[in-house]
Amino acid sequence: MKLLQLTDIHLTTPGNTIGGRDPNANFRRALDHILMLHDDAEAIFITGDLSDWGERDDYLRLRETLNGLPMPVHLCIGNHDDRSTFLSVFPECADDGGFVQDVIPLSLGHAITLDTWGPDTHAGHFCETRAAWLDSQLNTLPGPVWLFMHHNPVPLRIAPMDEIMLLDADRFQRCVALKKDKIYHVFHGHYHLPLSGSVSGIPFSAPRGTNHAGWPDFSATRLLSAADLTEAYSVIFAEPSYTMVHMVEFGYRGDVRSEESPDCASWNKLTMAR
Ligand SMILES: [Fe+2]
Ligand SMILES: [Fe+2]
Repeated sequence: MKLLQLTDIHLTTPGNTIGGRDPNANFRRALDHILMLHDDAEAIFITGDLSDWGERDDYLRLRETLNGLPMPVHLCIGNHDDRSTFLSVFPECADDGGFVQDVIPLSLGHAITLDTWGPDTHAGHFCETRAAWLDSQLNTLPGPVWLFMHHNPVPLRIAPMDEIMLLDADRFQRCVALKKDKIYHVFHGHYHLPLSGSVSGIPFSAPRGTNHAGWPDFSATRLLSAADLTEAYSVIFAEPSYTMVHMVEFGYRGDVRSEESPDCASWNKLTMAR
């Protein structure tokens, strides 16, 4: 099963730039790259910060863009989004409690998109209502389950970044720990940094975003750091016995070489061994 994760697309008023880059153009470039190389993907997940400032026009343009894609696209909201404005354009994304979360059947198990949005803060939230909803879904679903969310559920150990992580991380960690055998992977975004690790024994990963990039400055005390690194998305191969996650730097403009060998027929030594 092939899935794709895009994160932190930060759509904005056409012509505007963020970090010197055009997020609308970069989102389109990411989609064109996907259509050229990964149109066999089963689904795309975009893990939040869909609009840079939660503006309705961004969501309207996003809806129109997604309508032109051959595969389904599932959305999370992030701290830069506005839940009510988003739902005014994507009303079908609300669950019964008004959160932007969903259970999506896949050819292998199910994906669950989580809502970690909270008003007036860049930090993430996972309240008792959302924990009860996730717990109920995890009790019902047979597994495997793939979780998609915006905020990171463990600290980066970088002070200003950890101020805006998932503030209810303890609640989230307790919730997933009870079902860790069912949850094969957690995919998140938020810092525009490639990250990987585990939470309650469950692997997680995040790709860099499709526009501006973060930088891990471990000495930072007050401000987030940024760098001019290449735009990226994730290609995920999800199988019963393994999950492979590639971060594809679609914004890379250099050459891609075939590695030469004196004897091309035996570059992997298999021919020589016979
Ligand atoms: Fe972001
Ligand atoms: Fe974010």
